[in-house]
Amino acid sequence: MVTLNIYPEMAMVKSACQACANKPDMLLEIFHIIQANLGYVPVKAYQQIADALNISRADVFGVVTFYHDFNNSKQAANTITLCQSEACQSMGSAKLKTQLEKSYTVKTVYCLGNCALAPSASIGGKTYGRVDKQRLEAIMEAGL
Ligand code: FES
Repeated sequence: MVTLNIYPEMAMVKSACQACANKPDMLLEIFHIIQANLGYVPVKAYQQIADALNISRADVFGVVTFYHDFNNSKQAANTITLCQSEACQSMGSAKLKTQLEKSYTVKTVYCLGNCALAPSASIGGKTYGRVDKQRLEAIMEAGL
């Protein structure tokens, strides 16, 4: 099947696949490269990746949606992922979530592996510790 590549992210997706020699066992690495460059893995890219790796679109969809850290839209890339597990809750993450939800899309996870620096959040795939509302707002405004 020939895919017409008419969306702007096309070249990035193509180069990510080529960097991994179009190997199906490099699918996760391809997602990481694309997300590192675009901030998300576009849904429109699923067929292009499938064609390049000679696998089905369902295989691509199944893997990319299994891992919650892969975003599939620019909006999702601007989401604050906030830990609500025990260590972070004990440091006020529930209250922080309530404060942030007024201005941002907040996704809940249960442990980012950064418990010693609770409360923890993740933005654009980068984890931040000892966060508060002001710090997270500054990070979001800086587009980090
Ligand atoms: S409990 Fe929040 S990072 Fe582990």
